[in-house]
Amino acid sequence: MSPTERPEILVLAKILPAALEALSAQYRCHFAWEATDQKALLADIGPRVRALVIGGTSAVPAALIDALPKLEIIAVFGVGYDKVDLDRCRARGVALTNTPEVLTDDVADLALGLMLAVSRRIVFNDRFAREGRWLSGNPPLARKLSGKRLGILGLGRIGKAVARRAAGFGMSIAYHDVAAQTDQPWRFVPDLVELARGSDFLAVTAAASAGTDRMVNRAVLDALGKKGTLISVARGSIVDEAALVAALTEGRLGAAGLDVFIDEPRIPEALFKLDNVVLQPHQASATLETRQAMADLVLSNLAAHFAGKALLTRVL
Ligand code: 8YV
Repeated sequence: MSPTERPEILVLAKILPAALEALSAQYRCHFAWEATDQKALLADIGPRVRALVIGGTSAVPAALIDALPKLEIIAVFGVGYDKVDLDRCRARGVALTNTPEVLTDDVADLALGLMLAVSRRIVFNDRFAREGRWLSGNPPLARKLSGKRLGILGLGRIGKAVARRAAGFGMSIAYHDVAAQTDQPWRFVPDLVELARGSDFLAVTAAASAGTDRMVNRAVLDALGKKGTLISVARGSIVDEAALVAALTEGRLGAAGLDVFIDEPRIPEALFKLDNVVLQPHQASATLETRQAMADLVLSNLAAHFAGKALLTRVL
């Protein structure tokens, strides 16, 4: 295929550099961040774009889909696609793929990492050691993780992977989801406040949707309480962030380990001062191995689409 005949692709997110190179070798790529005037870019290339490559947190509103009349497929570099207008995709017959499975282990690993970092005060104690404060005495005692009660919000692939890991720490595990999964060994709790009340750690691993918006609200955080820890590796929108900041600063919630936020890359500044909070800049899938696997899946889905074959990981 000559370069001018290659399908044109609009790339919204700066995914793995090697993947951008591989895309450029096969398609006529337009990288949104290189254009100073997004409107002018869309007016110019919009009528020719056949595929959109986005990150898990990229927004694809109806207006963008409408500006791409030849759009056939959206390939998400990520498992989440909560900011994609699915109704418009369906109405227009636009296919949607994501990258499930390949990132499950990493996200679950980070959830456990945050649980350990918060309970054993690993980040605080690292600073304590570096600042030479050990010379004047020992740091305050941490809290034990093994054997504690874990509540999981969202028992999907990632929630189950968190549960399996937590079982290795001898934790007792319960979960809340839209329905009980009777094939799973963990205890289903139909009410999220009740789950939080009976948990030392509440891990948010649900897929974000309109129905999960700010689901972890003040009542849930208060039920988790002064000795409780919130772990969030899903989407910032699932947690009422203002309520979370208030609960932490007022001492109504014990601690938090957070990888995701409502307005990324912005993090509420009040959290920076809190020693009982461990923060990550949305790193759950950010390992070389996993990002490569995610990129491979994006490329394979696009290749399948343009070859008229079945998509590997189709959402729509
Ligand atoms: C990525 C994610 O950080 O998979 C998701 O939904 O949020 C993360 O894996 C993101 O997609 C990278 O753009």
